[in-house]
Amino acid sequence: MTVSRRSLIAGMLALGTLPLAACGGSGAGGSSGGVGSGEKKNPEDILVGLAMPTKSSERWIEDGENLKKQLEDKGYKVDLQYAEDDIPTQVNQLDNMISQGAGILVVASIDGTALTTQLQTAADNKIPVIAYDRLIRNTPNVDYYTSFDNEKVGVQQGTSLLIGMGYLDADGKETGKTDPANIELFGGSPDDNNATFFFQGAMSVIQPFIDKGILTVKSGQTDFEKVAILRWDPATAQSRMENLITSTYSGGDKVQGVLSPYDGLSIGILGALKSAGYGTADQPYPIVTGQDAELASAESILAGEQYSTIFKDTRKLAEVTVAMVDAIAKGEEPEVNNTETYDNGEKVVPSYLLESVIITKDNLKAELVDTGYYTAEEVGV
Ligand code: BGC
Repeated sequence: MTVSRRSLIAGMLALGTLPLAACGGSGAGGSSGGVGSGEKKNPEDILVGLAMPTKSSERWIEDGENLKKQLEDKGYKVDLQYAEDDIPTQVNQLDNMISQGAGILVVASIDGTALTTQLQTAADNKIPVIAYDRLIRNTPNVDYYTSFDNEKVGVQQGTSLLIGMGYLDADGKETGKTDPANIELFGGSPDDNNATFFFQGAMSVIQPFIDKGILTVKSGQTDFEKVAILRWDPATAQSRMENLITSTYSGGDKVQGVLSPYDGLSIGILGALKSAGYGTADQPYPIVTGQDAELASAESILAGEQYSTIFKDTRKLAEVTVAMVDAIAKGEEPEVNNTETYDNGEKVVPSYLLESVIITKDNLKAELVDTGYYTAEEVGV
């Protein structure tokens, strides 16, 4: 707590909201007094730097737009930048935001370990930093984290794979089915802290079925390092699936389930399966999972191709992040709901975590259309 309070005070200095008395009072690193009661800057005078990873995935476009709009509605100035999954570009963008006088930074990192220098500069300039959706690692200079319960997202991915394959019922209870089946596993980008949480969560429900000899990862590729897809790149996933089909399934065996942690990968995986003859009445697609409820996957689910996705409402993530920015700017203590899980290697980062929802054909309309996330025309329902 002392660390985050110290960071908060640092933030207040950056924003000009900490009373001078507090600066003089308890000396460097002083941990008490004055937060939130000092002179305030107006939102109009505060530039919020938003660093997003890429526009190649819809979710980050939504995230960026939602954040920008909600911040601007409150009067803040916003600098929204996308780095197209290129680490040096994101580093430059952060340098620019800092030199242009950003008061607060909200960062969805590409490589969660690559921003140490920039965040040190941010700290030196008393700029508070919120890690957005992806934890920034190996630095003390990240003040807060907003995301979803990433381990649970993984559990939901594994659970939906097993529901789709008939081993669990809709409530997640074992059905008693013991028919053997082949599966393959995919992981996210190894430099994204979330990816290991997703994989561990998924394997926590899948592994018991492997241990019982019901499910077999026929390629033998079960280590995260083996199955991880750098930068979450759909083309890499597609070619890995093509290679798996050639190396492991050319003798007539079929794959009945594929754990995929992200819709972009799922679409690539389905493309490889289609080219290999899957997706017909005689040879149906395996159960393929996903994440982010992207439009192409929503359509694929409705078409009976991809089985499931995990819906993480980016509107809500933007809301809690904007509330955090606003609280920091006003000198208040932002609301968090987790102070245990997200150790970034230097400290446990106080977090606000949201809940996610498994989507299949059965609840897609209710969750994605009736809530206004997509229009009926967009998904074709
Ligand atoms: C996000 C996921 C997303 C993935 C690829 C992760 O950090 O949490 O929602 O699917 O990045 O963009």
